[in-house]
Amino acid sequence: MTLSADVVVIGSGVAGLSTALGLAATRSVLLVSAGDGSTPWSQGGVAAAFGDDDPDEHLHDTEIAGAGFCDPRTVRMLVEEGPQRVAELIAQGARFDRDADGSLSRTLEGGHSRPRVVHAGGDATGAEIHRALRSAVQRTGVRTVEGRVTGLIKSDDGHVVGVLVDDGEGVEQVDARAVVLATGGIGNAYLTSTNPPAVSGDGLALALRAGASLVDMEFVQFHPTVLFTGASGGQLPLVTEAVRGEGAVLRDNDGRRIMAGLHPRADLAPRDIVARAVEATMRRDGTDHVWLDATAIRPDVLRRRFPTVLESCARIGVDMLTDQIPIAPAEHFLCGGIRTDRDGATDVPGLYAVGEAAATGVHGANRLASNSLLEGLVFGRRVATALTLELRRATTGRSQTVLLGRDHEPERIREVLTRSAGIRRDGLQLETAAEELEPLGSGPLATVARAVVAAASTRRDSRGCHWRSDHPHPDEQWSGHLAVRLDHDGRP
Ligand code: SIN
Repeated sequence: MTLSADVVVIGSGVAGLSTALGLAATRSVLLVSAGDGSTPWSQGGVAAAFGDDDPDEHLHDTEIAGAGFCDPRTVRMLVEEGPQRVAELIAQGARFDRDADGSLSRTLEGGHSRPRVVHAGGDATGAEIHRALRSAVQRTGVRTVEGRVTGLIKSDDGHVVGVLVDDGEGVEQVDARAVVLATGGIGNAYLTSTNPPAVSGDGLALALRAGASLVDMEFVQFHPTVLFTGASGGQLPLVTEAVRGEGAVLRDNDGRRIMAGLHPRADLAPRDIVARAVEATMRRDGTDHVWLDATAIRPDVLRRRFPTVLESCARIGVDMLTDQIPIAPAEHFLCGGIRTDRDGATDVPGLYAVGEAAATGVHGANRLASNSLLEGLVFGRRVATALTLELRRATTGRSQTVLLGRDHEPERIREVLTRSAGIRRDGLQLETAAEELEPLGSGPLATVARAVVAAASTRRDSRGCHWRSDHPHPDEQWSGHLAVRLDHDGRP
């Protein structure tokens, strides 16, 4: 049976749900969900610049964290439209934490010059936003199917006009006038990540195969404080940056402060700087983790603000009220992605991307903390508005089906990418990685891994999340953005 909808939205995190919600009144929407993405796991909060003078400062902080590589016009949209989107979310039922006087509680995170991060359930912001958006979408009657999108359908004139969905029982075709990829990042292409296993770069691989470009793929963000559980692979629990926002500090094995003297904001420096310092400390000391010390924070504050972190720590026998927390960096967020304009349009007509899957230029070379949920809210709405105003007529002529390929040896792909394109890279390692990835198939993991390696080996300088030990400084020659497309053999 062939289903149809005006718009198919692939992905049910904050970006996909915001897009579906924004379209529900004007278009028929089918939401395809392949399981929970990263949104419900997001802890710290949403950066929201309330107050007349704050949007400018939020813009400035975003650009500084982004190492001067952001698109300032896109960042302006993010910071100016953000508070309105947060207010709408509250109106839809999201319950954010409030101070005794009823105002929204705001905390500090790395790279922010003032407390502007609003949060819910202490450190369960993503889960609350996900809950509120999901019930709002359910109230609109948007249809949802559980399944994995395995192909895109293109028309004779090169427009994307549908998708193939594998719901576990068979493959269904869905005809559509536009398809929105809200599939998140590439966490599962690395050995360890804060992302759940469903986040495996499907949307990026499909977009590339359909003829779209990826951009800024070398800028993979590693979260500096991920709980060190001893596990060598899979999703690991986050220890939100907001713990440092409340006063926790990083220490090495001898109890010395890691960030003191390294940056004027010390433990609250932008994320790439903290991750590099943690990696350098671990390499210097030959250890597989360092310590986050939250013991100076009052126990009642820790209990109220960080119930999720307390529970994750307790599961490995650590009491964060009295013990230091073992942490190490892990893959967290893709700053690049599918190249889009400011309304989510990719290089391929009819194909849109939003949220972490998209590269609008808003994050530059390193995303500012708590700008990702905000991005999903703001750009989800922008895509919905664009598709409400304009949607081409349905077309029947189909010329091509673009299929996701198959990965050979996913574990090997993860191993190669983790070793060669982690926090610290060098040209030789990246060259070797490109050769090692060659026989590992053409599935989503292999495709995104090749794209990261190609971009990271091409860029011979260091900025933001991309740190080449053989080219350790920013170089003006490399001030342009690197796009990745498929070659004649279907390789990035
Ligand atoms: C965190 O809570 O530390 C993560 C938030 C983010 O990735 O922006």
